Amino acid sequence: MTPRALEAADEDRVQRFLGRIPEGDRTFFKENLDETTVAAWLSEGRAHRAIVTDDGGETRAYAAVIPGVGWSSHVGELRLVVDPGSRRAGLGRMMARWGLVEAVQMGLSKLLVELIADQEAAIAMFHDLGFEGEALLRDQVRDRGGKLRDLILLAHDVGENAASLAATGLDRI
Ligand SMILES: CC(C)(COP(=O)(O)OP(=O)(O)OC[C@H]1O[C@@H](n2cnc3c(N)ncnc32)[C@H](O)[C@@H]1OP(=O)(O)O)[C@@H](O)C(=O)NCCC(=O)NCCS
Repeated sequence: MTPRALEAADEDRVQRFLGRIPEGDRTFFKENLDETTVAAWLSEGRAHRAIVTDDGGETRAYAAVIPGVGWSSHVGELRLVVDPGSRRAGLGRMMARWGLVEAVQMGLSKLLVELIADQEAAIAMFHDLGFEGEALLRDQVRDRGGKLRDLILLAHDVGENAASLAATGLDRI
């Protein structure tokens, strides 16, 4: 399985995939997810979005690199989610690597990822890929139960590290 660009023909399969994301995980997903989410992604042209599908054509993982605007136009945000039934099989790491390569190709110099502070496993995964802690925003996220959670920002200096990404093979998914 390899990531490929999200296309208009994928709308239904990706919408089904989002429907499989459990309530508990929706806290870790910054956007509101509803039946219009994928159509909105498809009509928005700035972000680069990719999915991984299985042999049956079902979506197993999704990632996006969303470039900033104005004074942050050199910074991208990476968002990714893996189907709960397909986790711990390397898809998260693969999509994060895709995001790093994509950020370099988009000419970005910095890639950010936002995580709830207690997502220790995911934070470890991003650290392994060269992301470093940049900020902690207290009580930044209100989860669906109304509880306030701290948000961690991790960053990767993709511009500076483009050569070292290639040297470590991270430029190859
Ligand atoms: C975080 C997430 C993307 C990880 O996806 P994944 O496909 O399970 O990740 P991988 O299989 O590539 O795991 C990579 C490494 O991360 C760590 N890891 C990931 N999930 C873990 C868990 N539940 N427990 C322990 N370690 C974990 C491990 O070190 C793992 O390597 P290993 O399997 O060789 O030990 C997935 O859990 C997810 O979609 N979460 C909800 C959305 C989210 O939090 N997105 C990130 C912020 S945008």
